[in-house]
Amino acid sequence: MFRKLSKIFYGGDYNPDQWDEEIWEEDIKLMKILRVNAVTLPVFSWAKLQPSEDKFDFSWLDKVINLLSKNNIDIIMATPTAAQPPWMSKKYPEMLVTDIKGNKHKHGRRVNFCPNNSDYRRLSRLIAEKMAERYKDLPNLIMWHINNEYGTYCYCDNCAKEFRIWLKERYGSLEELNKRWYTNFWGHTYYNWEEIEVPSYLTELAPSWIGKKEMTIFQSMVIDYSRFMSDSILDCFRNEAEVIKKYTPDIPITTNFMGSHKPLNYFKWAKYIDVISWDNYPTNNLPISSAAMRHDLMRGLKGGQPFFLMEQASNQVNWEPQNALKRPGVVRLLSYQAVAHGGDSVLFFQWRQSRGACEKFHSAMIPHAGHLNTRTGRELIKLGEELEKLGGKIVGSRIKSKVAMMIDWENWWALECSTGPNEDLKYLNQLEKYYRAFYDLNISVDIINPSYDLSGYDIIVAPVLYMVKEDAVKSIESFVKDGGTFITTFLSGMVDENDLIILGGYPGAFRKILGLWVEEIDALYSDMSNTIVIKEKIPEMIKKEYECRLICDVIHTEGAKTLAVFGKDYYKGYPSLTENTYGKGKAVYVATDPEDSFIKDLIRHYCNEKAINSFIKPCRGVEITQRIKGDKTFTFILNHNNEKITLTLPEGMYSNLLTGEVVSGRIIIQPREVYILENLQI
Ligand code: GLA
Ligand code: ZN
Repeated sequence: MFRKLSKIFYGGDYNPDQWDEEIWEEDIKLMKILRVNAVTLPVFSWAKLQPSEDKFDFSWLDKVINLLSKNNIDIIMATPTAAQPPWMSKKYPEMLVTDIKGNKHKHGRRVNFCPNNSDYRRLSRLIAEKMAERYKDLPNLIMWHINNEYGTYCYCDNCAKEFRIWLKERYGSLEELNKRWYTNFWGHTYYNWEEIEVPSYLTELAPSWIGKKEMTIFQSMVIDYSRFMSDSILDCFRNEAEVIKKYTPDIPITTNFMGSHKPLNYFKWAKYIDVISWDNYPTNNLPISSAAMRHDLMRGLKGGQPFFLMEQASNQVNWEPQNALKRPGVVRLLSYQAVAHGGDSVLFFQWRQSRGACEKFHSAMIPHAGHLNTRTGRELIKLGEELEKLGGKIVGSRIKSKVAMMIDWENWWALECSTGPNEDLKYLNQLEKYYRAFYDLNISVDIINPSYDLSGYDIIVAPVLYMVKEDAVKSIESFVKDGGTFITTFLSGMVDENDLIILGGYPGAFRKILGLWVEEIDALYSDMSNTIVIKEKIPEMIKKEYECRLICDVIHTEGAKTLAVFGKDYYKGYPSLTENTYGKGKAVYVATDPEDSFIKDLIRHYCNEKAINSFIKPCRGVEITQRIKGDKTFTFILNHNNEKITLTLPEGMYSNLLTGEVVSGRIIIQPREVYILENLQI
């Protein structure tokens, strides 16, 4: 299936239908200068390809494809189903989304279709089939790209009908549903399936009485609706993928993900996708680790399989309040960051900058000036040359990690629709904090779902794993029994898959393994803090006291050792950090939301215990990863600093694949410079 994926693909979204034909030849000329070897098209061209229900017009696309093929440019063929034509919305108005406020949309925007609408399903499958039939034998067809950035939920009556069917299948009977949803609360007992509505602002979502966030009344229903919507949208993807596979069983299929995108359970989706691809738009004000974490997440979705960077901006975007330019060197640096984390392509949105509409101020490979004699143009030319030189050398190589972090979409939904204990608690923030600690130490992290195989890891981190299923608890228990270190935090192990509290004392599912009981959970106002006072001698914990916020658990240990206590309030002296020996391993509990330096020191401690080291001594702003293929190791060194840095390489000789130079010992890396080193056998 992957036989055609043998080089780093370089190029981007090509929207030739936004331009007159005369410009297409010019496009090809510029693609050659840039060494573009792949483009994605025609992402939004449904209206052009199908002027009416019984009329198709592929003539212009055939011409473009011919031109690309003649010039040896590979094609990622997109089905244009993210934006149905206006005539279609008019003819089948039920196809349009009803939003969470209960408003039925009219034609406009994109991804504005009801995923359960049968006309949408029929017509999107049809256009996909027409394309597959027409282009199945193209020798330069390397991948299918279905739709574009799926993820809009619908709340229409038809979705309500389908939701009831989905629920019947899940629960079997209303009695069971009433029990699992806890409907005796606020008199919600259902006697007829028809009584079940969808959770919108008209039903189970209410403005908060006092806080910032809306209040969810029935968590179990909202979580099931997210599951159902994620599944419904996945069915749209599968509907197209299935028909395409009939024609091109050997061509991989993808859809472009959005990294940490809450509406869709990407772990579940990943099972139906051949190659994960995603759109990376880190803004200048984000820590550089945040893109790294999302790359690792994308790599983790299919157990470490390399992913495609499907989109990024060559320079600024258009959708920020202030759209800052990418500084010199950054587009190249971020492109290599993707490769360093397991990416096998460097693709952009988009090829040529739009002349009109909302993306006219979004950068592209070719700017409005129409040529490459620009700062960005020169950077892209250099990048194209380098990627061409790298060829297929790195493609397909894997990252090996001793550490894994658990991420779970259902937990995310459950945690953030929970009413209490603290609305400032955000799942991604917690994940990022723990991820960043490893990142700063240059220790590679795999991102896994709790249901994934844990063997092979030394440390598993699971921040706020609030909702946890029995099989995951069992596998975590055996992981620790066998000698692993499991690190988790406040609010973990609390509820079952229906958001029902696991009774008998918090942290429910993890009480035994953690050896403690949480009697109370305190939520701190945003201007309040407490302290973590270190009690045990831990060499890596360099401060005596660290600040903490958000949540403080009041704990009684039941076998766990208290490593630190709280410094203030009536629970002063109660544990804030504990460690429990369980079998041959350890289960560690962080009972609050600590400042970053605490997490970093803690992580350093447990990594040292397991002798998990970085390639070289960590240096601020320098990112290091390694990809392995057979007996070859490729080490990526990325200097994100504005200043040059000096590093000492471990003993040995290395070839810098970007320059061909052989290096060893001390090296000086210029600001925003990248090294890709291959170990040389001596
Ligand atoms: C997304 C879309 C693209 C484009 C970019 C702009 O990633 O897939 O079509 O709109 O955003 O940043
Ligand atoms: Zn709908």
